[in-house]
Amino acid sequence: MKFDTKVVRAGIIPDPTSGSIVPPIYETATYVLPEVGKDRGFDYTRSSNPTRQVLEENLAAIENGKYGVSFASGMSAVDAALKLLGSGDHVVSGDDVYGGVTRHFDNVLARHGLEFTYVDSTDTESVRAAITSKTRMLWIETPTNPLLKVTDLEAMASIAREHDLLLGVDSTFATPVFLRPLEFGVDIVMHSTTKYLSGHNQIIGGILVTNRQDIFEQMKYIQKTIGAVSSPFDCWLNLSGLKTLHLRMRRHEESAMQVAQFLESHDKIERVLYPGLPSHPQHAVAKAQMSGFSGMITFELTGGTEAGKTLMNNVQLCGLAESLGSVETMITHPASMTHVDVPLADRHKRGLTDGLVRLSVGIEDVEDIISDLEQALTQA
Ligand SMILES: Cc1ncc(COP(=O)(O)O)c(C=O)c1O
Repeated sequence: MKFDTKVVRAGIIPDPTSGSIVPPIYETATYVLPEVGKDRGFDYTRSSNPTRQVLEENLAAIENGKYGVSFASGMSAVDAALKLLGSGDHVVSGDDVYGGVTRHFDNVLARHGLEFTYVDSTDTESVRAAITSKTRMLWIETPTNPLLKVTDLEAMASIAREHDLLLGVDSTFATPVFLRPLEFGVDIVMHSTTKYLSGHNQIIGGILVTNRQDIFEQMKYIQKTIGAVSSPFDCWLNLSGLKTLHLRMRRHEESAMQVAQFLESHDKIERVLYPGLPSHPQHAVAKAQMSGFSGMITFELTGGTEAGKTLMNNVQLCGLAESLGSVETMITHPASMTHVDVPLADRHKRGLTDGLVRLSVGIEDVEDIISDLEQALTQA
């Protein structure tokens, strides 16, 4: 099956009892067994559920992976990936990751004995230099939230192989439409399905995908033991949203490129970060490893923080909101919203200034998105 066909069809068969073309929502906690010691593939929804299974199979297929494990949020998927490790293990993580991930690593997992070192993963040598005898995992986000840094995954896979490390990649911003990390030798791909993969701002969800049976078995065990599973209804909504992923992503990207070019040429804009612009520091890597640049843009105004806030307070079409990757255009202030729990000094060290504005370009008419930004910029 070609990619676009997989998006619409992989893992989905007409319901055997009715022929329903849409997988039913199996909103059930448990299943009646035919006899003691036998089941029909399902015994309790924390362990497995037919609607969730369809979602897991579809997402695994579009990542070009064998196994998918679905979670109640992107964060519980991150948590499950990190639970493959144990006390005393060390993780080398990219320095620009979603603020909730930093919070989880530093304020929760560190209390349970994991150790973290943050490095700029666009610099392969600093990743290599951070590895110690205790390192067990590399955790990379690409493109990153919010600075849109792009990491060379082939280089990361070769370091991981050399040192026998697990390589986990948060590919939420790229989506499997533009990047399939498993094809570069990555062990675990993670997504917040809250974003592009569901695409309609209706659910919170997460997924882990792998090709390795040993990792899958551990992830499945963690999923059923801890129970941070996505509900059958959320899985069903996610499946609905997924069917247009390939179409949505192409529109997100096309419009993002036009918005990025508009912003870059505007005299009130100091800098624009968009992997598709030749001015992006890792444009060459993005062009080589991704088939498109997705729909996220980060920028800063010449007037600094106050001007950025004025812009965000004056947009009308763009929603000032704490998320991304949906059909609606959303604008976010990372310093006070998504990354507020990253200590100020750490934020500044990694280049996350108070004036940064993050834009998730939706699929409305791009002229309306640009006019809205233009009118807000005149006030900034
Ligand atoms: C890159 C990235 N990873 C993980 C997460 C966490 O996902 P969730 O909000 O679904 O728990 C987010 C949320 O914004 C994110 O942007």
